[in-house]
Amino acid sequence: MRNVGIDIGGTKIAGGVVAEDGTILEQRRVPTPIDPSALADAVADMVAELTAVHDVRAVGVAAAGFIDASRSVILHAPNIDWREEPLRAELEARIGRPVTLENDANAAGWGEFRFGAGRGVRDMVMITLGTGVGGAVIIDGELLLGGNGTAAELGHIRFERGGRPCGCGQRGCLEQYASGRALQREAADIAASGGAGAGLAAARTSEGIVPAAAMARLIAEGDPGAIEAVHRVATALGEGCGAFQAVLDPQLFVIGGGVADLGERLLQPLRSAYATAVPGYGEHAVASFAIATLGNDAGLIGVADLAGSRAR
Ligand code: BGC
Ligand code: NA
Ligand code: ZN
Repeated sequence: MRNVGIDIGGTKIAGGVVAEDGTILEQRRVPTPIDPSALADAVADMVAELTAVHDVRAVGVAAAGFIDASRSVILHAPNIDWREEPLRAELEARIGRPVTLENDANAAGWGEFRFGAGRGVRDMVMITLGTGVGGAVIIDGELLLGGNGTAAELGHIRFERGGRPCGCGQRGCLEQYASGRALQREAADIAASGGAGAGLAAARTSEGIVPAAAMARLIAEGDPGAIEAVHRVATALGEGCGAFQAVLDPQLFVIGGGVADLGERLLQPLRSAYATAVPGYGEHAVASFAIATLGNDAGLIGVADLAGSRAR
Protein backbone atom coordinates (compact mmCIF):
# COMPACT_ATOMS: atom_id res chain seq x y z
CA MET A 1 0.00 0.00 0.00
CA ARG A 2 1.15 3.54 -0.71
CA ASN A 3 1.08 6.60 1.50
CA VAL A 4 1.55 10.30 0.89
CA GLY A 5 4.24 12.12 2.86
CA ILE A 6 4.60 15.92 2.92
CA ASP A 7 7.50 17.75 4.57
CA ILE A 8 6.92 21.45 5.30
CA GLY A 9 10.26 23.22 5.56
CA GLY A 10 11.10 26.87 6.08
CA THR A 11 11.78 27.43 2.37
CA LYS A 12 10.05 24.60 0.49
CA ILE A 13 7.28 22.05 0.81
CA ALA A 14 8.32 18.62 -0.47
CA GLY A 15 5.81 15.84 -0.98
CA GLY A 16 5.66 12.39 -2.47
CA VAL A 17 3.84 9.13 -2.86
CA VAL A 18 5.85 6.55 -0.95
CA ALA A 19 5.68 2.77 -1.33
CA GLU A 20 5.72 0.33 1.59
CA ASP A 21 9.50 -0.17 1.19
CA GLY A 22 10.25 3.58 1.41
CA THR A 23 10.67 4.14 -2.33
CA ILE A 24 9.30 7.43 -3.67
CA LEU A 25 7.01 6.80 -6.65
CA GLU A 26 6.16 10.39 -7.47
CA GLN A 27 7.40 13.70 -6.08
CA ARG A 28 6.41 17.39 -5.88
CA ARG A 29 8.10 20.52 -4.56
CA VAL A 30 6.84 24.12 -4.11
CA PRO A 31 8.14 27.16 -2.18
CA THR A 32 6.65 27.54 1.32
CA PRO A 33 4.08 30.38 1.42
CA ILE A 34 4.56 32.75 4.37
CA ASP A 35 0.86 33.11 5.24
CA PRO A 36 -0.32 30.08 7.32
CA SER A 37 -3.60 29.75 5.43
CA ALA A 38 -1.87 29.89 2.03
CA LEU A 39 0.55 27.31 3.38
CA ALA A 40 -2.29 24.93 4.31
CA ASP A 41 -3.81 25.47 0.84
CA ALA A 42 -0.49 24.60 -0.80
CA VAL A 43 -0.21 21.36 1.20
CA ALA A 44 -3.82 20.43 0.37
CA ASP A 45 -3.24 21.12 -3.34
CA MET A 46 -0.17 18.91 -3.32
CA VAL A 47 -2.03 16.07 -1.59
CA ALA A 48 -4.87 16.40 -4.11
CA GLU A 49 -2.44 16.15 -7.04
CA LEU A 50 -0.69 13.12 -5.60
CA THR A 51 -3.85 11.25 -4.61
CA ALA A 52 -5.41 11.91 -8.02
CA VAL A 53 -2.87 9.60 -9.65
CA HIS A 54 -2.25 7.07 -6.87
CA ASP A 55 -4.48 5.05 -4.61
CA VAL A 56 -3.13 5.86 -1.14
CA ARG A 57 -3.94 4.58 2.33
CA ALA A 58 -2.83 7.47 4.52
CA VAL A 59 -1.48 11.01 4.47
CA GLY A 60 1.33 12.19 6.74
CA VAL A 61 2.60 15.75 7.18
CA ALA A 62 5.87 16.72 8.86
CA ALA A 63 6.38 20.24 10.16
CA ALA A 64 9.17 22.11 11.96
CA GLY A 65 7.85 22.87 15.41
CA PHE A 66 6.60 21.76 18.80
CA ILE A 67 3.49 19.55 18.36
CA ASP A 68 0.99 18.83 21.13
CA ALA A 69 0.48 15.35 22.62
CA SER A 70 -2.57 14.65 20.44
CA ARG A 71 -0.47 15.37 17.30
CA SER A 72 -2.89 18.10 16.17
CA VAL A 73 -1.56 21.57 17.01
CA ILE A 74 1.77 23.25 16.29
CA LEU A 75 2.23 24.88 19.68
CA HIS A 76 5.31 26.87 18.80
CA ALA A 77 7.75 27.04 15.92
CA PRO A 78 11.11 28.77 16.38
CA ASN A 79 11.60 29.44 12.65
CA ILE A 80 8.08 29.52 11.10
CA ASP A 81 5.24 31.94 11.84
CA TRP A 82 3.03 29.47 13.73
CA ARG A 83 1.63 29.96 17.23
CA GLU A 84 -1.01 27.51 18.49
CA GLU A 85 -1.72 26.59 14.86
CA PRO A 86 -4.36 23.82 14.59
CA LEU A 87 -2.62 22.49 11.50
CA ARG A 88 -4.09 18.97 11.53
CA ALA A 89 -7.71 20.25 11.57
CA GLU A 90 -6.90 22.88 8.91
CA LEU A 91 -5.44 20.24 6.63
CA GLU A 92 -8.15 17.65 7.26
CA ALA A 93 -10.84 20.23 6.45
CA ARG A 94 -9.15 20.98 3.14
CA ILE A 95 -8.15 17.42 2.23
CA GLY A 96 -11.26 15.62 3.49
CA ARG A 97 -9.40 12.70 5.04
CA PRO A 98 -7.37 11.97 8.19
CA VAL A 99 -3.87 13.43 8.39
CA THR A 100 -1.00 12.26 10.60
CA LEU A 101 1.04 15.22 11.84
CA GLU A 102 4.59 14.81 13.11
CA ASN A 103 7.62 16.94 13.90
CA ASP A 104 9.88 17.23 10.82
CA ALA A 105 13.03 15.92 12.50
CA ASN A 106 11.12 13.07 14.18
CA ALA A 107 9.84 12.13 10.73
CA ALA A 108 13.33 12.30 9.20
CA GLY A 109 14.74 10.21 12.05
CA TRP A 110 12.01 7.64 11.56
CA GLY A 111 12.72 7.54 7.81
CA GLU A 112 16.44 6.92 8.41
CA PHE A 113 15.64 4.31 11.06
CA ARG A 114 13.27 2.36 8.80
CA PHE A 115 14.93 2.75 5.40
CA GLY A 116 18.24 4.63 5.69
CA ALA A 117 21.41 4.89 7.79
CA GLY A 118 19.68 3.53 10.91
CA ARG A 119 18.42 0.25 9.47
CA GLY A 120 19.05 -2.60 11.91
CA VAL A 121 19.85 -0.23 14.79
CA ARG A 122 17.63 -0.29 17.90
CA ASP A 123 18.65 2.91 19.67
CA MET A 124 19.35 5.86 17.45
CA VAL A 125 19.48 9.64 17.58
CA MET A 126 19.05 11.75 14.46
CA ILE A 127 20.12 15.36 14.21
CA THR A 128 19.08 17.51 11.25
CA LEU A 129 21.09 20.60 10.40
CA GLY A 130 19.19 23.19 8.42
CA THR A 131 17.68 26.55 9.30
CA GLY A 132 17.29 25.03 12.76
CA VAL A 133 18.72 21.98 14.49
CA GLY A 134 16.16 19.20 14.74
CA GLY A 135 16.29 15.98 16.72
CA ALA A 136 14.71 12.56 16.79
CA VAL A 137 15.23 9.95 19.48
CA ILE A 138 14.46 6.29 18.82
CA ILE A 139 14.64 4.09 21.89
CA ASP A 140 14.18 0.35 21.61
CA GLY A 141 12.72 0.84 18.14
CA GLU A 142 10.15 3.44 19.21
CA LEU A 143 10.02 7.15 18.46
CA LEU A 144 10.21 9.17 21.68
CA LEU A 145 7.37 11.72 21.77
CA GLY A 146 7.51 12.81 25.42
CA GLY A 147 4.84 13.41 28.03
CA ASN A 148 3.49 16.48 26.25
CA GLY A 149 4.54 15.61 22.72
CA THR A 150 7.58 17.86 22.53
CA ALA A 151 10.50 15.53 23.31
CA ALA A 152 13.66 15.38 21.18
CA GLU A 153 14.03 19.13 20.66
CA LEU A 154 17.78 18.52 20.64
CA GLY A 155 18.60 21.87 19.05
CA HIS A 156 17.31 23.73 22.07
CA ILE A 157 19.56 22.39 24.82
CA ARG A 158 21.58 25.21 26.37
CA PHE A 159 25.00 25.20 24.78
CA GLU A 160 26.24 28.52 26.15
CA ARG A 161 25.05 30.38 29.21
CA GLY A 162 23.86 33.86 28.27
CA GLY A 163 24.62 33.07 24.62
CA ARG A 164 23.02 34.06 21.33
CA PRO A 165 19.24 34.64 21.37
CA CYS A 166 17.17 31.82 19.86
CA GLY A 167 13.80 31.70 18.06
CA CYS A 168 12.46 29.55 20.92
CA GLY A 169 12.66 32.53 23.29
CA GLN A 170 15.77 31.35 25.16
CA ARG A 171 19.46 32.11 24.79
CA GLY A 172 22.51 30.03 23.96
CA CYS A 173 20.67 27.09 22.34
CA LEU A 174 22.75 24.57 20.35
CA GLU A 175 20.74 25.60 17.25
CA GLN A 176 22.48 28.99 17.29
CA TYR A 177 25.93 27.31 17.08
CA ALA A 178 25.39 24.17 15.00
CA SER A 179 22.74 24.79 12.30
CA GLY A 180 23.23 25.59 8.63
CA ARG A 181 22.45 29.17 9.53
CA ALA A 182 25.09 29.06 12.29
CA LEU A 183 27.66 27.87 9.73
CA GLN A 184 26.99 30.98 7.63
CA ARG A 185 27.15 33.15 10.70
CA GLU A 186 30.51 31.70 11.77
CA ALA A 187 31.79 32.23 8.23
CA ALA A 188 30.67 35.87 8.30
CA ASP A 189 32.31 36.40 11.71
CA ILE A 190 35.58 34.88 10.52
CA ALA A 191 35.46 37.02 7.37
CA ALA A 192 34.83 40.17 9.41
CA SER A 193 37.77 39.42 11.70
CA GLY A 194 40.24 39.19 8.75
CA GLY A 195 43.12 36.72 9.24
CA ALA A 196 42.14 33.29 7.96
CA GLY A 197 39.14 34.83 6.27
CA ALA A 198 40.62 36.07 2.97
CA GLY A 199 38.58 33.64 0.85
CA LEU A 200 35.47 34.21 2.91
CA ALA A 201 35.91 37.98 2.86
CA ALA A 202 35.99 37.92 -0.95
CA ALA A 203 32.83 35.79 -1.08
CA ARG A 204 30.91 37.91 1.41
CA THR A 205 27.95 39.86 0.02
CA SER A 206 27.20 43.51 0.82
CA GLU A 207 24.74 42.24 3.48
CA GLY A 208 27.69 40.58 5.18
CA ILE A 209 26.68 36.98 4.50
CA VAL A 210 28.61 34.22 2.75
CA PRO A 211 26.12 32.46 0.42
CA ALA A 212 25.78 28.70 0.84
CA ALA A 213 27.08 27.94 -2.66
CA ALA A 214 30.23 30.05 -2.13
CA MET A 215 30.69 28.42 1.25
CA ALA A 216 30.49 24.94 -0.30
CA ARG A 217 33.08 25.91 -2.95
CA LEU A 218 35.50 27.39 -0.38
CA ILE A 219 35.22 24.30 1.83
CA ALA A 220 35.93 22.05 -1.17
CA GLU A 221 38.98 24.21 -2.00
CA GLY A 222 40.23 23.87 1.58
CA ASP A 223 40.01 27.59 2.34
CA PRO A 224 41.27 27.95 5.95
CA GLY A 225 38.52 30.37 7.00
CA ALA A 226 35.78 28.15 5.63
CA ILE A 227 37.35 25.08 7.26
CA GLU A 228 37.51 26.99 10.55
CA ALA A 229 33.76 27.77 10.28
CA VAL A 230 32.99 24.06 9.74
CA HIS A 231 35.24 23.21 12.67
CA ARG A 232 33.32 25.55 14.98
CA VAL A 233 29.95 24.08 13.98
CA ALA A 234 31.20 20.48 14.18
CA THR A 235 32.71 21.15 17.60
CA ALA A 236 29.47 22.57 18.99
CA LEU A 237 27.55 19.61 17.60
CA GLY A 238 30.05 17.05 18.89
CA GLU A 239 29.91 18.54 22.38
CA GLY A 240 26.10 18.46 22.22
CA CYS A 241 26.24 14.80 21.18
CA GLY A 242 28.41 14.09 24.22
CA ALA A 243 25.55 15.35 26.39
CA PHE A 244 22.99 13.35 24.41
CA GLN A 245 25.20 10.30 24.87
CA ALA A 246 25.14 10.71 28.64
CA VAL A 247 21.32 10.83 28.68
CA LEU A 248 20.27 8.50 25.87
CA ASP A 249 23.21 6.15 25.12
CA PRO A 250 22.30 5.57 21.45
CA GLN A 251 24.19 3.06 19.30
CA LEU A 252 24.23 5.50 16.40
CA PHE A 253 23.94 9.21 15.69
CA VAL A 254 22.67 9.98 12.19
CA ILE A 255 23.45 13.49 10.93
CA GLY A 256 21.22 14.92 8.20
CA GLY A 257 20.14 18.18 6.61
CA GLY A 258 22.05 20.33 4.12
CA VAL A 259 25.21 20.70 6.22
CA ALA A 260 25.54 16.90 6.37
CA ASP A 261 26.53 17.00 2.68
CA LEU A 262 29.99 17.87 4.04
CA GLY A 263 30.35 14.22 5.03
CA GLU A 264 33.68 13.35 6.65
CA ARG A 265 34.73 17.01 6.70
CA LEU A 266 31.99 17.45 9.26
CA LEU A 267 32.18 14.05 10.98
CA GLN A 268 35.92 14.11 11.71
CA PRO A 269 35.94 17.25 13.89
CA LEU A 270 32.55 16.21 15.27
CA ARG A 271 33.92 12.88 16.54
CA SER A 272 36.93 14.65 18.10
CA ALA A 273 34.69 17.07 20.00
CA TYR A 274 32.42 14.20 21.04
CA ALA A 275 35.44 12.41 22.53
CA THR A 276 36.14 15.47 24.70
CA ALA A 277 32.54 15.59 25.95
CA VAL A 278 31.45 12.01 26.70
CA PRO A 279 31.79 11.20 30.41
CA GLY A 280 34.34 8.40 30.94
CA TYR A 281 35.31 8.42 27.26
CA GLY A 282 37.53 5.45 26.37
CA GLU A 283 36.23 3.32 29.21
CA HIS A 284 32.91 2.18 27.78
CA ALA A 285 31.32 1.63 24.39
CA VAL A 286 29.98 4.78 22.75
CA ALA A 287 27.97 5.59 19.66
CA SER A 288 29.12 5.74 16.08
CA PHE A 289 28.24 8.49 13.61
CA ALA A 290 26.79 8.26 10.12
CA ILE A 291 25.58 10.69 7.52
CA ALA A 292 21.89 10.32 6.62
CA THR A 293 21.39 8.33 3.43
CA LEU A 294 17.90 9.52 2.42
CA GLY A 295 19.02 13.15 2.10
CA ASN A 296 16.25 15.72 1.90
CA ASP A 297 13.63 13.02 1.39
CA ALA A 298 13.99 11.46 4.85
CA GLY A 299 11.17 13.56 6.34
CA LEU A 300 8.57 12.83 3.69
CA ILE A 301 9.49 9.13 3.57
CA GLY A 302 9.39 8.87 7.36
CA VAL A 303 6.08 10.66 7.78
CA ALA A 304 4.45 8.60 5.02
CA ASP A 305 5.52 5.45 6.86
CA LEU A 306 4.28 6.76 10.22
CA ALA A 307 0.94 7.69 8.66
CA GLY A 308 0.64 4.23 7.13
CA SER A 309 1.36 2.44 10.40
CA ARG A 310 -0.90 4.72 12.45
CA ALA A 311 -3.73 4.13 9.94
CA ARG A 312 -3.40 0.37 10.21
C1 BGC B 1 12.50 23.27 15.88
C2 BGC B 1 12.21 21.82 15.70
C3 BGC B 1 12.54 21.38 14.28
C4 BGC B 1 13.94 21.82 13.90
C5 BGC B 1 14.30 21.46 12.48
C6 BGC B 1 13.90 23.59 15.43
O1 BGC B 1 14.13 24.95 15.56
O2 BGC B 1 12.34 23.62 17.24
O3 BGC B 1 10.87 21.53 16.02
O4 BGC B 1 12.43 19.98 14.22
O5 BGC B 1 14.09 23.20 14.08
O6 BGC B 1 13.41 22.02 11.57
NA1 NA C 1 12.13 16.42 17.07
ZN1 ZN D 1 16.24 27.57 21.26
